[in-house]
Amino acid sequence: MKILIADYIYTPQGFVENQAVAFTDNIEEVNTLEVLTKKYPDATQIQTKPHSILFPGFINTHVHLEFSANKTSLKYGSFMPWLDSVIEHREDLVGACDNAVMIKECKAMLASGITTFGAISSFGNELEVCEKTPQRVVFFNELIGSNAMYADMLYGDFMERVKASMSCEKESCITPAVAIHSPYSVHPIILQKAVNVAKEYKLPLSAHFLESQAEREWLESGEGELKGFFEKYFNTSTPVTNIQEFMYAFDTYPTHFTHCVQANQVELDYLAQQGHSIAHCPRSNRYLGCGRLPIENLNLPFSVATDGLSSNDSLNIFDELRAALLLHNDIPIQALANTLLKSVTADAADILGLDCGKIEAGKLADFAIVTLAETPKRKEELALWAILHTKEVSSVYIAGELLENEAF
Ligand code: BEZ
Ligand code: FE2
Repeated sequence: MKILIADYIYTPQGFVENQAVAFTDNIEEVNTLEVLTKKYPDATQIQTKPHSILFPGFINTHVHLEFSANKTSLKYGSFMPWLDSVIEHREDLVGACDNAVMIKECKAMLASGITTFGAISSFGNELEVCEKTPQRVVFFNELIGSNAMYADMLYGDFMERVKASMSCEKESCITPAVAIHSPYSVHPIILQKAVNVAKEYKLPLSAHFLESQAEREWLESGEGELKGFFEKYFNTSTPVTNIQEFMYAFDTYPTHFTHCVQANQVELDYLAQQGHSIAHCPRSNRYLGCGRLPIENLNLPFSVATDGLSSNDSLNIFDELRAALLLHNDIPIQALANTLLKSVTADAADILGLDCGKIEAGKLADFAIVTLAETPKRKEELALWAILHTKEVSSVYIAGELLENEAF
């Protein structure tokens, strides 16, 4: 048994003072140090540095590690030129993204306090890295392919990857999962088969949805910028599905939809009614000119996530939270800071069905320790100070084991 002592602990009831946490690989109890010392006299006591806040480890629900080699290859600013540049550079980027590149990015996530991430995997290339990384990984095997001619082959490849991730579930911290690339890029027949696989094995399910205006226009009317794209690369000029048909394919199975920036109120209400959630990627949306998700009006749970380096400049969760503070400039900043911290802890864990993300008895002992430079003058501003002043956390614990920042 270990006992962690910090000036503040971020609990589901908010920031609390004069408390400590007793834990093994799970959290045993949150109470005063006096009570915990009496109850667990043999426990190792760990005093964090002055002005430290103990957070549950942060959860990044949506990242593409396979595109970690991108720095200046892909075209930012507008969705369609970006998608064209993905097609142009995809092979080079994936080829340049070896294990060393991906490990470096896992470490960057860890340094920012991310102890769990959802890896969207198109090819299965990052499975080995995800097995080795100390973090918990929800491994989203992605299905892609709108051309009916190749659908069976692509579905077969997808199922091989699902099975490979299932087979390493026991020896690693990997949770196998299913991702649907998007409505415009997945044929409805294999889409339904993949949703059924998720249902059968009770796997987390995710899909990009209504990211751009071009996607909306294509799905609604078969027109717009995606028309030229499909004519050029796929020799077709009709979409394989529409917005409603795609949404209905996920009925009765709560799914984590990424972006939804271009979803209207009727669609958002439908997602909410079906128990779905949203992965909100503020920097990705801004860099690809997709618009702003109005999080102030959402009536469904959402996480804040980095997306991949194919549409971002870092996988640091605090960089993402600072960007969210600036992007949502009309929301009162203190309330927003609190909402954002919840979105990468308790809400993200609930969305992915994980037993972490909260500092309370029974949860997994995953922690991120944030150390402020001086004593915070007002407790009600802790969330904002933590977001503004943290580039890297002091240390993280996963399943009760310490990983010092230097050792990352
Ligand atoms: C498709 O298979 O339709 C597709 C693949 C990648 C990007 C867009 C569409
Ligand atoms: Fe994505």
